This record gives sequence, structure tokens and C-alpha cells, in this order.
Amino acid sequence: MKRRDFLMASGAAVAGLSGASLTARDLWAAEPASHDLRIQPATYAFRDTPTQGLISLSPDAPPPVLRGKRGEAMRLAVHNTTPDYTAMHWHGLRIPNGMDGVPYLTQMPIGEGETFVYEFTPPDAGTYWYHPHCMTMSQMAHGLTGVMVIDEDDDPGFDSESVINLRDFRLQDDGRFLPYYTARGAARGGTHGNVLTANWQQGPIYDHGSGTLVRLRVVNTDTTRIYRLHLGDALVRIIAWDGHPVDQDLPLPTKDVPMLVGPGQRVDFAVQMPEHEGQVVELTAELPGRRTQVMATLRSLGATSARSLAALRPLAKNPLAIPDLDTAELHEFVFGWTPEGGVPNDGYCGSLGYSFWSINRTPWAGDAAEGTGPLATLERGKSYVLRLRNESPNLHPIHLHGLAFVPLRSNLRTLPQLWTDTALLLKDEIIEIALVADNPGDWAFHCHVIEHQKTGLAGYLRVT
Ligand code: C2O
Ligand code: CU
Ligand code: CU
Repeated sequence: MKRRDFLMASGAAVAGLSGASLTARDLWAAEPASHDLRIQPATYAFRDTPTQGLISLSPDAPPPVLRGKRGEAMRLAVHNTTPDYTAMHWHGLRIPNGMDGVPYLTQMPIGEGETFVYEFTPPDAGTYWYHPHCMTMSQMAHGLTGVMVIDEDDDPGFDSESVINLRDFRLQDDGRFLPYYTARGAARGGTHGNVLTANWQQGPIYDHGSGTLVRLRVVNTDTTRIYRLHLGDALVRIIAWDGHPVDQDLPLPTKDVPMLVGPGQRVDFAVQMPEHEGQVVELTAELPGRRTQVMATLRSLGATSARSLAALRPLAKNPLAIPDLDTAELHEFVFGWTPEGGVPNDGYCGSLGYSFWSINRTPWAGDAAEGTGPLATLERGKSYVLRLRNESPNLHPIHLHGLAFVPLRSNLRTLPQLWTDTALLLKDEIIEIALVADNPGDWAFHCHVIEHQKTGLAGYLRVT
């Protein structure tokens, strides 16, 4: 069978995903815990003219929301039909190291025509996501980022749900891709897209019953943009942050003080839909230059069911080990420019051709089998405090695989102690985080601005 016929055949299964009157729940319907994922070229019309050269899991739609359940086994067979190497990473999931999808560190890259079967049992419920970790820059920039929802043991009592995958694309007016990164951007805050999307659509509208309770899961899967978000004066509560339940009352973001959600980060809101049909809740992004953009809208439909946020039960806690701060050992990490420059090894997983960034003054040697060692070795079961210091004027969402951590303090602001896998470091910020090294393996540790990651701001921690 020719490559093209093959693509056409595999497209049949996703027909009908674009009906306008479907609710968000229908659109992102639950799938069984076994998934066959086929990485393939895709075409999609963001505006009037279709954009070719996307990479997704179907020929004409964004990567789907994958669902699993806490404590239940999942099997994800990832088949690569593209000529480039790849590897799939399950961001935020605390799973065995061999299933983490990091080339050379945990597995060999997946070549054209090859399949890698990922099998794991998610220990935590919440909002997570997936993306490649080999050819990361080009495959993510061309579309390959999707949301993964791990359901709680018990239904937390929402009427419905909307899942929002926020990301930019860099397109010309005729729909063709602009260069997906620039050296200038990589050496500074990253190269931003110019078409901002939610689930690959610009300002989609999702209908929910008037007066119902909606779980709104917002995921920033962009390669660069730090989203500044708020929901106007809607009746909402922040119920989870980076996957894990929030057990305190957090101040709600506003237009003047929006919430910073860096690449890789997630926030779950409980939303009480307005009581009159047609009223809306707008997920709004504040952009540079005082611009504002509605990323997605929830719209009330039908007669009110008059439910109230007060009726929601709190989400059950995930089984996270509490760090012992009395015995915790301190390790320091400095994130900044690299004095030497140089070119990372590009192996099979791609290089942007520059080293601009470093951790502890050493740029990552590149995603290849050689020239790397752990930044630190942690003893299994012990508690650690990691001091993360940003020595640059740019912001860095620093992400650690395989473990969850909690911020303790910052030199610039008061941070709520929320479990996370990604700490957003502001200009000149120093944040101390604490964790228990309870998952053995080599865990990637890098900035989630992918241009920074791929030009040096990467490494790994070893848990023995
Ligand atoms: Cu979201 Cu190393 O990844
Ligand atoms: Cu990750
Ligand atoms: Cu960075």
C-alpha cells in the first residue's frame, strides 16, 4: 500500500469530529484505556486556506484528549509513520522511568515504521498531557501536543467538562508555516506564534447547560508562550494546578492580575455556568501591547439547573510523599546563558544548531547517547530541597519528569504551596522546591520553552 492510501484509510475513524452542535463532552468523548496512536502528517484549515505539513495522530484533526483512570493500567502503542525519529512523553505522570519517553535516557528513538508500546498505571488523577521528546521542536511546533485526562476514583460531581489545549502556530496569511523558531528568539524569550488557538480553533464556543457545574481543564501545550489568563467575573474556583488538587482558596485571576500559565502547565477550574441561556464565560488571554484575546467561550444553554459551586465535593488528594524538611539535602541549579556557545550534538532527535543556554553553566550536549551525565544524584526515598536560580532576564518554566514537587519560597513573591512538575521562574527569581526522590531512574530536567531546552537548557537528575 502506498503511503498516501494508507493515510486515507486511517482517516476514516476520525470523520465526524467537527459537528457544530456537539457539546465539549461529546467532542472529546472518553476512549478506552488502550490506545493505538499513529503519528502522521496532517492538514487542517486554521483559517480559510488549509495548512499542510502538520503532524498529528489523524490526518485532519488535533491530537485527541486521551483518557485513563487513576490506578488502572493504560496501554499506548505509538506507531511512527513519519520519516523523522520520535519518542512520546507523558508530561506530569509519575510512571516507571522506562515508560517516560525520553530518547537515550529511557528508550531508543522510534524510527519510521516502528512502534513503541507504553504501558503504565497512572498513580495520580488530574490533567496531564503528551508530546514528543525527540525532534521535539519541529514535531510540537507542527501540532503534536495533546491533553491526557486521568479520572479520579470517584466522580467528583460535575455536569460536564471542557478541555482546552492552548497553543500557537506560526503561519503566513496563505496558511503555510513560517519558520518555527528563530535564533534570535531562542536566545531570548523564544519565538512566539501568531495564530493563537484552543483545540486548534480560534475562539471556539462550547455549550453547557445553564446553571450547571463545568470542569474546565486548561492546558498550555505551547512551545513558547507564557499565557496570562483570567475568566472575567465568572463564578469559578481553582480546583487543580498542574494535575494535583488544590486544597486552599486561591485568589481568582483578573484582567489586571492574570494567572501565569507557562508552557507545560495546567489549571482546572470549577465553573458555575450563568443562569440565563446565551450568557457566556470567556477564557481570556492578556497579550503584550494591552491586547486581549478570548481563547475559548463557554455558553449557557437551556433552562437553568441552578447548581452551585458550594455543592462540589473537594477532589481526593493524590498519593504524594511529603518531604521532610529537617533532613532534606540542598542542591543548587543555576539557569542562564552559556559562556561558550557551541553546537549541540544532533543525533537522531534534532538540534537547532546553537547552544545559548545552560544549567550550572553547562549546556546540554544534545539528545544523543554520549556526552551527558546527571546534574545530581538523589538517593531513593530521601527528601531534597532544590534551589532553582534564574540568572537571566527571560522567564523559564523549569520542568522535572517523574516526580512531583512543591515550592517552598521565592526571593520575589509569595508562592502558594501547590504540588507541581513545572516551576515558572521569573526574571532573576530564585525558587526553592522540595520533593521526595521516590521514583527511581534518570529524570529529564529542563526548561519547557522548547527553544531553550533545545539550545542547552536541559539535563537530568538521577534517582538511584
Ligand atoms: Cu513536557 Cu520533558 O517534557
Ligand atoms: Cu515531562
Ligand atoms: Cu527557558
